Amino acid sequence: MKNHLSAALFFAFAASASGGSFDQLRRGLELPLVPDPAPLSRATEALAGDTRYWITVGADDKYDRTALLNAGLDIIETQKAYVSGLIEAELMDQLAAKGFIVKSRRTIQDYARQHLKDFPAGDAAYHNYKETTDLLLALAAEHPAEASLFSLGKTIEGRDIWCLRLNTAEKGEAPSARPAALFMGNHHGREHLSNEVSLALARHLLANKAAPEIRQFLDTLDIYIAPMTNPDGAEYDIASGKYRWHRKNARVNADKTIGVDLNRNYDSLWCQAGASHYPAADTYCGPYAFSEPETQAIKRFVESRPNLKTLMSYHSYSSLLLYPWAGKDTPVESERDRKVFEAMARGMTAFTGYTPQQSSDLYVATGDTTDWAYAARGIFSFTTELEGTTFYPGAAMIDKASVKNVKAALYLLGVTADPYKLAR
Ligand code: ARG
Ligand code: ZN
Repeated sequence: MKNHLSAALFFAFAASASGGSFDQLRRGLELPLVPDPAPLSRATEALAGDTRYWITVGADDKYDRTALLNAGLDIIETQKAYVSGLIEAELMDQLAAKGFIVKSRRTIQDYARQHLKDFPAGDAAYHNYKETTDLLLALAAEHPAEASLFSLGKTIEGRDIWCLRLNTAEKGEAPSARPAALFMGNHHGREHLSNEVSLALARHLLANKAAPEIRQFLDTLDIYIAPMTNPDGAEYDIASGKYRWHRKNARVNADKTIGVDLNRNYDSLWCQAGASHYPAADTYCGPYAFSEPETQAIKRFVESRPNLKTLMSYHSYSSLLLYPWAGKDTPVESERDRKVFEAMARGMTAFTGYTPQQSSDLYVATGDTTDWAYAARGIFSFTTELEGTTFYPGAAMIDKASVKNVKAALYLLGVTADPYKLAR
């Protein structure tokens, strides 16, 4: 995201301009003390015409939260008695009639204006699609005995969804009988940190390939890392050089709105709860299950690899580790599997400090990656909601989140060969 550096410097300048010393300097130069409107328009330029609002709504439990998702609210932050997130103006206007109490509301431009006051100064450290592609190509080229790169398929805009494979025996798309693990990032465009954590995992495994524990993984497992599963959405989010808070892919819907929520598009009780049929909503499930090339690509990949045992889908942000069911308000039916999920969740959160819970305890939402992968293929599948208090937490968060999540990933790899040993 190199184009963000100039914006970051600009904001650093603008921020100091509002501080006392700069004001004094201005006064000394007898310049008029008019607040510079530039940073405001700069922060919101990319959001011209965006009719979403950032709202806080009363919500006491997961049922309220699910009902809000159904009503089209994109829940981003969850507190005890309320949630906050983004919603289309038209849908917001229907909330009162549905019995919800909107405690506060502001336009997304207003929200962005305040939010970007401290524009993260190091966002150039984040990898955009080209930088992600180049890094993956370089890793595969530098470690030909351990790594290979292939595409899971193409996005709507024709980008390859790259998947790095770590395996000392099989390369590319060749099948393997080894137990396999799949790590994915960036289902949601604005969750750039999830791409970084996936990339950090790939780098860590290759940089430490001689260490006995990692050698063992590379020699006995079949490891797949697809850091950016929604490259169109990630690129759209940053294309103008300012953030768009874009969650979905880049599908142009029938009503001309942009995007389908890929994490509501999988075929597991598709669009029955916690998702919206309204194309403008950020939780739009699409016209039918697997309507999107991105989810189709993952479906094809997963279905053709019966050796997959574990799956991790990185998202941001909330410091949670979630496991199925997401779309049902009941635990997974198999007690043995439940024990494995819970043990794995404990194992991973010992390293991250995140809160482990069944997905639907947050809210019931159908059609997500993990429910489908577990229901369709019995894969022990997790969603990590990385830490932070914003989608744009700055460069320092990359290492902070990566260090602990790489450790959690190593734990997951350590149990991938035989998940059921955790139930014995
Ligand atoms: N925040 C993610 C999303 O909305 C995670 C969803 C996990 N599923 C759930 N029912 N909580 O896609
Ligand atoms: Zn997400």
